[in-house]
Amino acid sequence: MKIAIAGCGYVGLVTGVCLAEAGHEVTCVDIDRSKVKRLTQGIPPMYEPGLKQLLKRNLEQERIHFHVNGKAAYEQADVLMIAVGTPQQADGQADLQYVFQAAKEMGIAAKSGAVLVVKSTVPIGTCDQIDRVVHQELGRNEPLYIASNPEFLREGSAISDTLRADRLVIGAETKDVLDRLEEMYADFHLPFVKTDRKSAEMIKYASNAFLATKISFMNEIASICERTGADVEMVAEGMGLDHRIGPSFLRAGIGYGGSCFPKDANALVQIAGHVSHDFELLKAVIKVNNHQRVCFIRTIQERLGAKLEGNRIALLGLSFKPNTDDIREAPSIPIAHDLHQLGAELVAYDPVAMRQAACELPDSVQFTQTIEEAVKGADAVCILTEWSDIQLFPLHSYKDLMRQPIIFDGRNCHSLQEAEQAGVEYHSIGRRPVSPIFM
Ligand code: UDX
Repeated sequence: MKIAIAGCGYVGLVTGVCLAEAGHEVTCVDIDRSKVKRLTQGIPPMYEPGLKQLLKRNLEQERIHFHVNGKAAYEQADVLMIAVGTPQQADGQADLQYVFQAAKEMGIAAKSGAVLVVKSTVPIGTCDQIDRVVHQELGRNEPLYIASNPEFLREGSAISDTLRADRLVIGAETKDVLDRLEEMYADFHLPFVKTDRKSAEMIKYASNAFLATKISFMNEIASICERTGADVEMVAEGMGLDHRIGPSFLRAGIGYGGSCFPKDANALVQIAGHVSHDFELLKAVIKVNNHQRVCFIRTIQERLGAKLEGNRIALLGLSFKPNTDDIREAPSIPIAHDLHQLGAELVAYDPVAMRQAACELPDSVQFTQTIEEAVKGADAVCILTEWSDIQLFPLHSYKDLMRQPIIFDGRNCHSLQEAEQAGVEYHSIGRRPVSPIFM
């Protein structure tokens, strides 16, 4: 099949290379000229395991192409995909201007009977609106079938999430369109959920909001564990073995971040509001998430003092989660600003996200190339992202390198036994503190 994709961000690019890998002829379109140039040379705009190799292979086999202007690709495509951003507006609603811009360009250029697939996360009813714009506002006479196909890939595991997804959700108004999209994905050998467009659009928001709810729920449980002496890691393990609950997304920490959960949760609150439904549960999820960072800072202040002048604090991990250089809505950013405001001297390490983070962090933050350099002479360490090199860094090394070995672990990277054996002071989320003084 010939496939044209508008948008070379995470969703568009990863979908593009995976569809090319499945043997389709794919053209990805992006308005960013330098991004397109680099992609043509095989250089992805973001760090994502496995992406570079897949991109290179499909460029060499001429199954994937990149362009600034989509007209020619849109004219020839059997399937056109919209994978542009839907950024959050000031009031929390999704900004759909890029979606409609792409839909109009495609609506003018697409051949008769082609399928226009919306992959971007869009409010319920957007596909219907695109249908109206294309066939009424643009006055298009030939059919262009509009379908929803939300994306569930996670940054850091985007390729395997796409090729080995739990399910592919397709929403369309006719069986023929559903079958054509099933055929496009046939080589992926994945289970399909075939439904109407509105339900498909809702599945995406509901899934992300539910996962965010699981995380905030566990963060609330963690707070209660801290006050009662229970251990949230044991609690999560015990809960997760119940098949009805499942073990994933039960990790307590300093809160969820990234380009999706915060944006999509806010957007769903707005969507509900538009149909006069006050989504109180989801509002609480968002509130709890924002509060996690406040609690983390409070723990640091309780130990080091209300003012942090004279304290050198090492921040380990800056990206919103491991295996990505994305720092959008990363808890590390507000935490660093708060610590800076309180007078701490900050030094930071991240294996890949330091360049991106430098633009968002206070100017005075020093960056180091290794964990050792960051923690050397520090009065405290804050673990903010569970990168594997940070998890594997031996706790006894903190004792050897730091001025005083006090660790605030926002991601529960270590067991309490390890901390006890290493003789460090260790504060984590939802577990009792470990201190050589308490032993
Ligand atoms: C998410 C969805 O998982 C994906 O399906 C959707 O398409 C896009 O949004 P992503 O943002 O890449 O993907 O990351 P994910 O792995 O889901 O983690 C999101 C955030 O939740 C991270 O900040 C992570 O640290 C946090 N998290 C995750 C927790 O705090 N606890 C957990 O148990 C799991």
